[in-house]
Formats: sequence, C-alpha cells, structure tokens
Amino acid sequence: MRQLDLDFVRRQFPAFSSPVLSSHAFFENAGGSYPCGAVVERPHRFYTDRKVQPYGPYPGAAAGGAEMDEARTRLSAMMGAAAAELSFGPSTSANTYVLAQAVRLWLRGKNAAIVVTNQDHEANSGVWRRLADEGIEVREWRIDPESGHLDPAALRPLLADGRVRLVAFPHCSNVVAEINPVNEIAAMARAAGARTVVDGVSYAPHGFPDFAALGCDVYLFSAYKTFGPHQGIMLIGAEFGAELPAQGHYFNAGSLYKRFTPAGPDHAQIAASAGMADYVDALYAHHFTAPADAAARGRAVHDLMRAQEVAVIAPLLDYLGSRNDLRLIGPRRAEARAPTVAVALDRAAEPVSKALGQRGIACWAGDFYAVRPLQAMGVDMDRGVLRMSAAHYTTADEVARLIEALQEVL
Ligand SMILES: Cc1ncc(COP(=O)(O)O)c(C=O)c1O
Repeated sequence: MRQLDLDFVRRQFPAFSSPVLSSHAFFENAGGSYPCGAVVERPHRFYTDRKVQPYGPYPGAAAGGAEMDEARTRLSAMMGAAAAELSFGPSTSANTYVLAQAVRLWLRGKNAAIVVTNQDHEANSGVWRRLADEGIEVREWRIDPESGHLDPAALRPLLADGRVRLVAFPHCSNVVAEINPVNEIAAMARAAGARTVVDGVSYAPHGFPDFAALGCDVYLFSAYKTFGPHQGIMLIGAEFGAELPAQGHYFNAGSLYKRFTPAGPDHAQIAASAGMADYVDALYAHHFTAPADAAARGRAVHDLMRAQEVAVIAPLLDYLGSRNDLRLIGPRRAEARAPTVAVALDRAAEPVSKALGQRGIACWAGDFYAVRPLQAMGVDMDRGVLRMSAAHYTTADEVARLIEALQEVL
C-alpha cells in the first residue's frame, strides 16, 4: 500500500503557508477544513472572467456554465454517480430541509413510518422528526448510551411491520465518529421497502464516498469540510429522485439535479467545487502511475487518505483512552472511526479549548449540534465536549504537539 506524501499534500493547501493560519496546529477540521489551492484559485478566475449569467451565448457566460457543469460531471464521476444525480445546495442542512418537504408530500396519507437515529447531527434529524406533525410515524433507532454505537441489529425490529418508507442515518456521527456499515444498513432498509438518506458530512472529508458501492438512495455532505467551498452536495439516485415530488420550479422538474434545489445556484461556488476533483486527480497522479477512470482514482485516493489518518490519529486515541479523568466518545480503535475525537471532561470543555489555543492548538468545544447523541450518552451539556479532529493533511508531529498540550492543560 502506497503512503500519502504529506509534503506534497500540504503544498496543495495555501493555509499551510498563511502566516495567520499556520500559527496553530489545526484540529477543527470537522468544523470546516482548509480549502485546497485549486478551490482557492478557481473563484478568482470565475469572478474575474466569468461572473455573468452562465450558459449564455457569449464567451464569459459559456465558460462559466461549462465550469459549473464540469464540477458536477467530474465530482459525480469520482464518486461513482451519474452527473444528474449530483446537486449543489447552500448547505447540507438546507438540502435535508428541502428533501424533507418532498418526503412530506410523498408520504402524505400513506400510513407510513420513518426511522431516524439519535446519533445524527441535527441536520439529518430534526427535519425528519417534524414530519410527525403530518401524521407520519417517527421511530427512533437508538444508540448504546455507553459507547454511542448504532447497532444495525436494533434497526431490524423497527422495520418489521413493513410500514417504514425511509431510514435516515449518518455514515458517521460528528461526535461518536464510529463508521456505520452504510451498505449493510441500506440493504436491510431496501429489503423492508424503505429508502435511505445518509448524512456523510462527517465521513466524506476522510475519503469521498463511492455512491454506487454504498447502495443508499441519498448521500449528503458539505464541501466546506472536504477541502472545497461552502456548498452542500447531495447525491440522489435517479429512481428515488423521480419518485419524490420536485421542489424547484415546475418547468425544471424534468432535470434531476434541479428537482431538490429551489434556491438559485451559487455559480462561483459550484464552479469552484471542481477544484476538489482537481485535487483528487493531482493526488492520484502524484501517487500512482496506472491509468484509471475517475471512480477508480477516487477510490484509490480515498484509501490513501484513510490509511494516513488511521495511522496519525492512533497515538491520540491511545493517550486519551489511557486517561481516567475523561471519557473518550466513540471507539478507541482508529480503524473503526473517523479521526474526529470528542472527549467529555471533568470540567467545562470550552476553557480547555482556549487554553489549548494559547499553546498553538486550534480546536473547539461545545455540542456541535450533536445535542441528541451527547444527551443520549449522558454527557453534561453545560460542560460540553472537547473535540479534536484531524484530516489527511494532519502530521504526526501535530498530533504529538496536541498530546503535549493536553498533558499540560489537563
Ligand atoms: C455530521 C454533520 N451533518 C450535517 C452538518 C450540517 O452541515 P451544513 O453546515 O452544511 O448544513 C454538519 C455540520 O457541522 C455535520 O457535522
């Protein structure tokens, strides 16, 4: 297995040579990642040479439209989806909101039930729970209160009566971080006649998903956490997308990627999103010689990123797991989780994050809108949790500095 060349990686991120940002070792990646250079450069070109109504019959408009199409085409191909199956919205929260409006109409009067979890970030929870107001039964698939684990076996009885039409769950939670077996859960839901909506926001930064292999109907993530601009990206299978009532202008209903994005698109940000594909391709070209299609390049880069992160975060998990004055949330084993590491402390977490900030460590504290899972695990919400999250560009030296700073502060 090839190793990620971290010097090469870090050269692709302007943040690492920014005097402002490079002052700290960055561990707030789960909040928002650094954008890669290609994503920083593309909007400048767009605003300078393309920022007119795109797709019109004059050069700047045509080039702007082509760059927006390029983003959708290349990113979808990289994730094993068709171009029409990828849509851009303002954020994942906005995308789930619109999707829930479509589901509300889809299930109206059908004596249907849906399943939500208490492991999700609120963005993939509240919008679904509100469907109870429409007479849709909402069933909660609950985590283990000790470990935060979401057991697929516990989903089975919730699906047993055949009334469940939709299951919403996370690829991994932004505080528990354990990677859920999406393919297995999606297959279980499908066999029971239910569609699946997966919040991939906390997973995608650690390797872009292979949509076809995951087997879910909808996969959502936020590009500002995957080295891109502030956009919500939604992959929706063509079949489910056609089944749900469109939420955009009626005359656009024939275009899958416009059906669930009623807001006017943010042209420049969408065009900039192609920079994420530039980055993945640059990583592939630097590490591999064999020609490969976009999906294969995406998978290869996914595996490189994951391997790097698993190795880099293990010492932090070992260190935190060995302390008896804190509670490590989620699995101790790096392979089982994303490198998003939350801990409940014997004191309020926010002042600890401040003290770490004074020692050159950038991280934060609070509930991270994961109120339901933290409450379900009995975390004192006044204290909140301290969260330290790495990305593939995080170095072993940065993790060592973090451990040293924790040792001083705790
Ligand atoms: C797991 C998870 N899901 C959803 C969201 C919401 O994403 P957005 O900010 O794009 O609405 C977040 C944001 O932090 C998140 O961490």
